[in-house]
Amino acid sequence: MSDPRLFQPLRLGNLDLANRIVIAPMCQYSAIDGCMTDWHLIHLGHLALSGAALLTIEATAVVPEGRISHADVGLWDDYTEAAMGRVLESVRRWSDIPIGIQLAHAGRKASTEVPWLGGAQLPPSHAQGWQTVAPSAVAFLPDQHPPSALARDELAPIRDAFAAAAVRVARLGLEAVQIHAAHGYLLHQFLSPLSNHRDDDYGGSLENRMRFPLEVFDAVRAVFPAERPVTVRVSGTDWVGGGWDVVQTVALSLELERRGCAAIHVSSGGLSADQKIPIGPNYQIPLARAVKQAVSIPVVGVGLITDFDQAEAIVGTGDADLIALARGMLYDPRWPWHAAAHLGAQVRAPAQYLRSQPHQHRDLLVPMAASRGSN
Ligand SMILES: Cc1cc2nc3c(=O)[nH]c(=O)nc-3n(C[C@H](O)[C@H](O)[C@H](O)COP(=O)(O)O)c2cc1C
Repeated sequence: MSDPRLFQPLRLGNLDLANRIVIAPMCQYSAIDGCMTDWHLIHLGHLALSGAALLTIEATAVVPEGRISHADVGLWDDYTEAAMGRVLESVRRWSDIPIGIQLAHAGRKASTEVPWLGGAQLPPSHAQGWQTVAPSAVAFLPDQHPPSALARDELAPIRDAFAAAAVRVARLGLEAVQIHAAHGYLLHQFLSPLSNHRDDDYGGSLENRMRFPLEVFDAVRAVFPAERPVTVRVSGTDWVGGGWDVVQTVALSLELERRGCAAIHVSSGGLSADQKIPIGPNYQIPLARAVKQAVSIPVVGVGLITDFDQAEAIVGTGDADLIALARGMLYDPRWPWHAAAHLGAQVRAPAQYLRSQPHQHRDLLVPMAASRGSN
């Protein structure tokens, strides 16, 4: 194939992306008191050699009680910033991949055990649990300890925590921020009528339900350097009748575009245990396509994209401008290399690995720019 679309460069704000492959944020549940550990150095370090255009750091809590679990990464004080700085310094010494970060607050889905220990909610009485907060005092599951409904005067501190984290992100030199407004976490809880039962001006109408997520976006956009992109990850639908849906997602996306959002990343679900998801390859791409048809900013499609031709078709047909991979990148961290070989493109790789090039793909690997530091 000549000139595959998956390997065309793209500009996101002022950020130059070498191709259309993004590594989706993936929680590692391996932090200590919000601080990244050597696991993050290993994990991000190997993904940084993948040839993807952008590496997104996992959901990073802007306050301790916004963590999904006690082992989540955070960015709320000098300690968490220093721990992330140490990891980034090492990764960057050897890879020039642009790195973004997802800023998050889990709301009523916070305070859980790590997934491989079952992932159950830990109530406030548990040593590693805490009281969760949400737009309304409605638990994710009926048998869970309910969140406390956020009072009006508790909203501004959370908004400001997103902004304060974005200041730290800028200081760490990260290239992009993604605000997590998907998967049933706090900002999505404000958007969906299933979790937002407020009767003040943060609940009820679509305009009111969008108010807090948009305030968070504006606060982050205002403090993050103007030349660096701020993007938003949304759930395109709750997959539950009467919930958040694609029409509302398009309305939100248009409003975000108007406010300077650089891209919309369209995922889905996560808000309700009643969701009925038609899982299969490309299952979320129709949602991305709907947003793409409405906005002029780039749109990212995600979800069970595993095949090289599948990815090329999503970008090539214009359903999305970029594709994001999560599980596929863990399974095959050189997925972009293999995609480039399959589609007849080139991909950037560390100079140390150039000799791995198979002889039938003599021009596959292009050396990354020289490392940014010395060892
Ligand atoms: C281990 C793991 C951790 C994840 N953590 C996050 C996260 O931090 N933030 C987020 O928005 N989505 C998270 N997700 C969802 C992925 O970003 C992605 O949307 C989802 O897995 C579908 O893409 P895939 O089919 O390529 O895996 C996670 C997924 C996995 C497998």
